[in-house]
Amino acid sequence: MKTLENKSVIITGAGSGMGRSMALLFASEGAKVVVADLKADRVEAVVKEIASKNGTAIGFAGNIAREEDVNKLMDACMAKYGTIDVLVNDAGIMDDFTPVADVTDELWNRVMGVNLFGPFYTCRLAVRQMLKQGKGAIVNVSSIGGLQGARAGAAYTASKHGLAGLTKNIGFMYGTKGIRCNAIAPGGVNTNIMEGASPNKFGFERISTGMASNLRMAEPAEVAELALFLASDKASNINGTVVVADGGWTAF
Ligand SMILES: NC(=O)c1ccc[n+]([C@@H]2O[C@H](COP(=O)([O-])OP(=O)(O)OC[C@H]3O[C@@H](n4cnc5c(N)ncnc54)[C@H](O)[C@@H]3O)[C@@H](O)[C@H]2O)c1
Repeated sequence: MKTLENKSVIITGAGSGMGRSMALLFASEGAKVVVADLKADRVEAVVKEIASKNGTAIGFAGNIAREEDVNKLMDACMAKYGTIDVLVNDAGIMDDFTPVADVTDELWNRVMGVNLFGPFYTCRLAVRQMLKQGKGAIVNVSSIGGLQGARAGAAYTASKHGLAGLTKNIGFMYGTKGIRCNAIAPGGVNTNIMEGASPNKFGFERISTGMASNLRMAEPAEVAELALFLASDKASNINGTVVVADGGWTAF
């Protein structure tokens, strides 16, 4: 039997990078996937790729920072598959390494919207459904920036610390109800996340002082393997924790 045989899985940010790798890997492991992303063309491409490999997927184009879009996302999963067995909150955006003195309300709200409000909206609805099912697994993609103070700017760092806290709280609160919730803290991964970035000069200079201790960049597929494990019943005793996958960067 495949690792996620017949499980319904929602993956946000599944149009690119780690989310895309997870969608492809999970589908190859028998999951019925909802490929969710802001960008409709990316959603379509990933759904097609999964179908071309005889996997099962539907697409959902929407903004997870908007509660009404998240409601529709959950409805789409329920209408098609009838359960929400696994939720992966992967969608996230960077903050141009902006130090707090330069953070505008607009930047703060935008980063918090995607990186923290989005996962809050999805977790709230998914947990309600998982409670009815008596079972479910949530994987949140935090970052080593959710554990350390200077892998990004103020808003990103705060949002990813917040996501780590949300993860631990959900894991403990519902651990007796068949629901597990864990987070992944990747280090540097080769994805599109810096697309269109315009780094803050001072912030980037400060961050760069720690870059030399990064041993290597990872490929998205490497992180997807950890997400698959955490989403699966093989991780039955792993709950409410943040698992680092950074190739040793934070070991320094
Ligand atoms: N790349 C890294 O080095 C790194 C390191 C640590 C953590 N992360 C985290 O990993 C996650 C995935 O990032 P990635 O590196 O694969 O980046 P990516 O940019 O390649 O993929 C992220 C996807 O999320 C989508 N997205 C952005 N905002 C959205 C929204 N509001 N609603 C729905 N979808 C939205 C994007 O369209 C994109 O397709 C993010 O949460 C990121 O913070 C990345």
